[in-house]
Amino acid sequence: MRSIFAFALGLLSLAHALPSAKAKSALATTNGTRFSIDGETKYFAGTNSYWIGFLTNNKDVDTVLDHISASGLKILRVWGFNDVTSKPSSNTVWFQLLSASASQINTGSNGLQRLDYVVQSAEKRGVKLIINFVNNWSDYGGMPAYVTAFGGTKEGWYTNTKAQAQYRKYIAAVVGRYVNSPAIFAWELGNEPRCKGCSTDVIFKWATETSAYIRSLDHDHMITLGDEGFGLAAGTSYPYQTGEGVDFEKNLAIKNLDFGVFHFYPGSWSVSNDSGPKWVKDHAAACKKAGKPCLFEEYGTDSNHCALQKPWQQAALQVAADGMGGDLFWQWGDKISTGQTSNDGNTIYYASTDATCLITDHVKAINAL
Ligand SMILES: *[C@@H]1O[C@H](CO)[C@@H](O)[C@H](O)[C@H]1NC(C)=O
Ligand SMILES: *[C@@H]1O[C@H](CO)[C@@H](O)[C@H](O)[C@H]1NC(C)=O
Ligand SMILES: *[C@@H]1O[C@H](CO)[C@@H](O)[C@H](O)[C@H]1NC(C)=O
Repeated sequence: MRSIFAFALGLLSLAHALPSAKAKSALATTNGTRFSIDGETKYFAGTNSYWIGFLTNNKDVDTVLDHISASGLKILRVWGFNDVTSKPSSNTVWFQLLSASASQINTGSNGLQRLDYVVQSAEKRGVKLIINFVNNWSDYGGMPAYVTAFGGTKEGWYTNTKAQAQYRKYIAAVVGRYVNSPAIFAWELGNEPRCKGCSTDVIFKWATETSAYIRSLDHDHMITLGDEGFGLAAGTSYPYQTGEGVDFEKNLAIKNLDFGVFHFYPGSWSVSNDSGPKWVKDHAAACKKAGKPCLFEEYGTDSNHCALQKPWQQAALQVAADGMGGDLFWQWGDKISTGQTSNDGNTIYYASTDATCLITDHVKAINAL
């Protein structure tokens, strides 16, 4: 009895001493042009699952995170938004209802509690999440849903007072839920923000102010923009231009953005598949110059996954000491209780031959660096 009591006391004081030390070292950070996770500074691989926060079965969430973690992937990027302009039926997951007069953030069991479970499950498995707050595209609402609710245009979204006020309310709601979680890798302003034909000042100013706002809510977790990496002086083809209102190098200098991200979809951008290595290395060089890591955050092709994407991964590893901190392929595929997860043509399914090539072999190459 006495010894049990002493043991329990010992545990109590340990539990009391642990949180701050643990929370600090467990937080993902930058370390020069590399990332550091759980105190380890190296190159990290990961993936994207836009749908994991919309699953309604906890076991499915656990299955996916078990597989991701067992594959040696450390970073998972998920959609932290799910905007609607009218309330769906009760078994449909939604996070925010946008309305000129009565916007509502859904903290119920078909709302942010679904994202809570992803964060909890990731925490248990040591997987780190990138959570973003709005979509450029209309999937899951996005900026077009704000335009429906508050008026104006898609290009005007970045400066629309009512839209921005609601966007900030939403950010505060999400950041507030996970501000102390070691499972957050970074907050992300949006998915692929573009402002076609706009001055690059529009997104620059919005990103400067929004990242400062997030920093005021959360001093510790990293923050990033979520753009495609457009606008680089090192080339002349479409993605190197600033026509979508994005200037990668200018945005990279924003104080409260901790690292740069970029995507690569040669199919949708009409550039050659083998321009990937240059695209990767040009971003790494810009990141090295800025003294911040780059994350190759999305990449994909709708066929020939292994043959086409392997050289992009190899290029990233070649500059792992020169600006490139990690990469996340688009997108994770798995088998869950409802069958196969979303197949958009780009999906790399767990335990497939594509997964051997782009995950197993890639993780081996990273460990051999
Ligand atoms: C940063 O990285 C360097 C080089 O890999 C390492 O020696 C150092 O311990 C790291 N610092 C932190 C705080 O992780
Ligand atoms: C995403 O942004 C670009 C540039 O503003 C625009 O052309 C495109 O239509 C947007 N997507 C949607 C669905 O608004
Ligand atoms: C790139 O690869 C895709 C998928 O195999 C193919 O459909 C496309 O034609 C290729 N693009 C070019 C420009 O060769």
